[in-house]
Amino acid sequence: MSADGRAQPVTVSLVGSTGSVGTQAVDVVRAAPDRFRVVALAAWRSVDVLAAQATALRPDVVAIGDAELAPALARAVPAGTEVLGGTEAFAEVARLGAVVLNAVVGFAGLSVTMAALESGRRLALANKESLIAGGPVVARARCTPGAEIVPVDSEHGALHQCLRAGNGPGEVARLVLTASGGPFRGRSAAQLSAVTVQDALAHPTWAMGPKITVDSSTLMNKGLEVIEAHELFGVEYDRIAVIIHPQSVVHSMVEFIDGSTVAQLSQPDMRLPIGYALGYPDRLRAPFGAIDWSSLGPLNFEEPDRAVFRCLDIAEQAGRAGGLAPAWLNAGNEVAVAAFLAGRIDWSTIADVVADTVADCDGSPAREVQDVIDADRRARARAERAVRSRERAA
Ligand SMILES: NC(=O)c1ccc[n+]([C@@H]2O[C@H](COP(=O)([O-])OP(=O)(O)OC[C@H]3O[C@@H](n4cnc5c(N)ncnc54)[C@H](OP(=O)(O)O)[C@@H]3O)[C@@H](O)[C@H]2O)c1
Repeated sequence: MSADGRAQPVTVSLVGSTGSVGTQAVDVVRAAPDRFRVVALAAWRSVDVLAAQATALRPDVVAIGDAELAPALARAVPAGTEVLGGTEAFAEVARLGAVVLNAVVGFAGLSVTMAALESGRRLALANKESLIAGGPVVARARCTPGAEIVPVDSEHGALHQCLRAGNGPGEVARLVLTASGGPFRGRSAAQLSAVTVQDALAHPTWAMGPKITVDSSTLMNKGLEVIEAHELFGVEYDRIAVIIHPQSVVHSMVEFIDGSTVAQLSQPDMRLPIGYALGYPDRLRAPFGAIDWSSLGPLNFEEPDRAVFRCLDIAEQAGRAGGLAPAWLNAGNEVAVAAFLAGRIDWSTIADVVADTVADCDGSPAREVQDVIDADRRARARAERAVRSRERAA
């Protein structure tokens, strides 16, 4: 509390502040200036966006992953702002705020997740890849006094809210994750044989970064989210269901043992789950995604087509295998998606590359962070070989 009795703003580090989630997080903190003070910002290479954010938010520290860009960033930020460069800087800024948003894309987010949890921060987690690849080591870091994960993914943010309606895990019958189905919902394998990068990036309900948008088109995103739900909420795989819901209004549901289902609804707007995670346990007074019930149309639900969207089952199997299998899955998928975005492989080959990669995982446990990093490196090399063997003729 300050001298006049008002609550002090919560200090926040925004890591990956220049991306889709990161820029929406900036919108959220600017909509609630009395609630948050941004103490650190970090991005990979986007000097101009980072500098503009620093000018608007006046953090103490700004970090850039590509160290060569640090001098240019230093010239562009307000005087007195500390500038850090290099990948180690991400972990450094993840130890600064009381709340740390991890909005980095991909496995590179692991150091942020680990540093935030090991230093007892609340982690607002958008970077699902770190939790999926590093499940057992992240779980251990989560036991650090003060450490806590509040998910940013809209589905897990929904589950987090729905679970507050019950009295603990013993009352939960099932978690039901909803999925929009992506741009290719309802298409056959034959119809999907010639889809382009542009087609895959045209998501019907969410505007997101390219990697997660491609993951949504293959349903790998939903497979990763099943593992994410298992890791976050400790519910076994047999009690996590996936249902296609094209409108993206019901963000997920919890079925309780008495037959009751509690769902969380809003218009698709990531600023709502971001604000929930940053502000937890209190809700923000800035509403995002509120529903106008008089104009809301029908809400539909259907089973996913697991034969066409093979990534969903591949991911669930890797999750059930546990240990380092999800790390191999994640690395295989990151390599495959990058190859698809670069025009090297077809969309339908993404599942083949991931399946080949996971098949080589030897079932070792993930004891230390280094085990996860080594598995990621080996899996990337395996996936790259799978890409080369299936590469399109130039
Ligand atoms: N977008 C969504 O609506 C959404 C929804 C749910 C979950 N998520 C999850 O949130 C995470 C971020 O997604 P996004 O869509 O916001 O991604 P994005 O738009 O591609 O932004 C990625 C951010 O990470 C930074 N970055 C890129 N490569 C990096 C590296 N090697 N090391 C450190 N930082 C790096 C980028 O910096 P530069 O700009 O400098 O490259 C940028 O700030 C992903 O894990 C995604 O699955 C996203």
